Amino acid sequence: MIKTVSELTGVKSEVKTMLVTGGAGFIGSNFIHYMLKQEKDIFIVNLDKLTYAGNLENLKDIENRKNYKFLKGDICDSRLLDIIFKEYDFDFVVHFAAESHVDRSILEPNIFIETNVVGTASLLCSAKKKWEESEWHEKRFLQISTDEVYGSLREDKKSDKFTEKTSLKPRSPYSASKASADHLVKSYFYTYGLPTLITRCSNNYGPYQFPEKLIPLIINNALNNKMLPVYGDGKNIRDWLYVEDHCDAIYTVLRKGKPGEVYNIGGNNELENIYIVNKICEMLDELYPIKNNLKFKIQNLKSVSYKDLITYVKDRLGHDRRYAIDATKMKKDLGWAPHSVFEEKLKDTIGWYLKNRDWVKHVTTGEYEKYYERMYD
Ligand code: NAD
Ligand code: DAU
Repeated sequence: MIKTVSELTGVKSEVKTMLVTGGAGFIGSNFIHYMLKQEKDIFIVNLDKLTYAGNLENLKDIENRKNYKFLKGDICDSRLLDIIFKEYDFDFVVHFAAESHVDRSILEPNIFIETNVVGTASLLCSAKKKWEESEWHEKRFLQISTDEVYGSLREDKKSDKFTEKTSLKPRSPYSASKASADHLVKSYFYTYGLPTLITRCSNNYGPYQFPEKLIPLIINNALNNKMLPVYGDGKNIRDWLYVEDHCDAIYTVLRKGKPGEVYNIGGNNELENIYIVNKICEMLDELYPIKNNLKFKIQNLKSVSYKDLITYVKDRLGHDRRYAIDATKMKKDLGWAPHSVFEEKLKDTIGWYLKNRDWVKHVTTGEYEKYYERMYD
C-alpha cells in the first residue's frame, strides 16, 4: 500500500514531491543522491521497472531515508501511473527511464519504441490528467534527452556544434525513439500548456555506469585481461560530461528553466574514442599495474601495459561520427557551466570502479538482480 507524502513526512505543505523515473539506472541514481544532498524539503519517488540496466545496489545507502521511496513499475503502465500521480501529487517529474544503449537498439529496436516513446506518452498523459485538476504553472515535467537526436556532425568542421535550434536528424533506433519522445513532450506544451522542459546532454561518465558503455566497459575488460574493443578507426568523437555536472545542470533547469524550452548540456570535452581508451590504459597502468593483477599473473603473460589489449573491431552500424554540444544557452540564461576537468574525473571514475569491484562483480554475475527480492519482496 502506497503511503501519502503527509503520512510519511508529517509536513505536507513544505515538502516538494518529485517523481524520478529510471532512478535505479546510471544517471537517475546519481541524480537521486545529488538531490537528497541538495534539498532537505524534498520527497523522491523512484519509479523503475528494473530492467537489466536498473540496479538498486546503486541506492543502497539511501534506501531507508524517510524522504525516499522506491516503486517497481513500468512507465508504459498507464493505470499504475494514474494511481501514483493521485497518491503523491508530484511537483516535479524528472524522466530518465529509457532504453539507453545504442548497440542494443540496433539489435532490438522495438523495446526502444515501447519504453522511450509509448512510456513517455503514458507519463505525459498521467501528469496532465492529475495536474489539470488544479493550478499547474509551478509544476515541472523534465524530459531527459540526448544530443544524439541532432544526428552526426562532420569531423572536419570543428566549429560546428549542436545548438537548441539545430534540427533533429536522429540516425539510430535509439536516437529516433528519443527524438519522438521529445516531440511528444513539446506537443503537450504547445497543445495543453503542460509545463514541460527538455534537456539534451552529451555522453555521461562516472560512478554506477553499467559496464556496457565505453568507459566502464574498457575499465572492466582491462582489469579482467579481456580485449578492449574499439569500433571502426576509433576516431569517432563524443563530448564527455561528468555525471555530477549533469545532475547539477538538471537541478538548475528545474529551478530556473522556462517551460517550453530546450537546454543543451555538454562537458566541453570533445574527444576521440581511441584517446579515451589509451588514457584509461595509462591511468590503470599507474593505479593498478599489470604486475599486481592476478588475472594476468595466472596466465603468465608478458604484457606491461593494458594498451596491449586494445583491439580494433567491426564498426557500429550507422555509427555517428561526431557529437559536440554548444551549451551557451545554459550559461547565458541559467548561469550554468560544467566544472569538471576530464582527466581528473576520469581518474576518479577509474578509482571508483577499482574500489567497487563487488558492485561490478554483482553486475557481471547477475547477482544485482536478486537485490529487489531480498530487500522489497
Ligand atoms: P540507464 O540505461 O543506465 O538506466 C535506465 C533506467 O530506466 C534503468 O534503471 C531501467 O531499469 C529504467 N527503465 C527502463 N525501462 C523502463 C520502463 N519501461 N519503466 C520504468 N523504468 C524503466 O540509462 P542512463 O544512462 O542513466 O540514461 C538515463 C536517461 O538519460 C535516458 O533517458 C537516456 O536517454 C538519457 N541520456 C543518457 C546519456 C548517457 O550518457 N548515459 C546521455 C544523454 C542522455
Ligand atoms: O551522446 C549521448 C549518448 O551517449 C546517450 O544518449 C546514450 O544513452 C549513451 O549510451 C551514449 O551513447 P554512445 O553510443 O555515444 O555511448 P557508448 O558508450 O555506447 O559509445 C561511446 C563511443 O564509443 C561510441 O562512438 C561507440 C564507441 N564504442 C563503444 C563501445 C561500447 C567502442 O568503440 N567500443 C565499445 O565497446
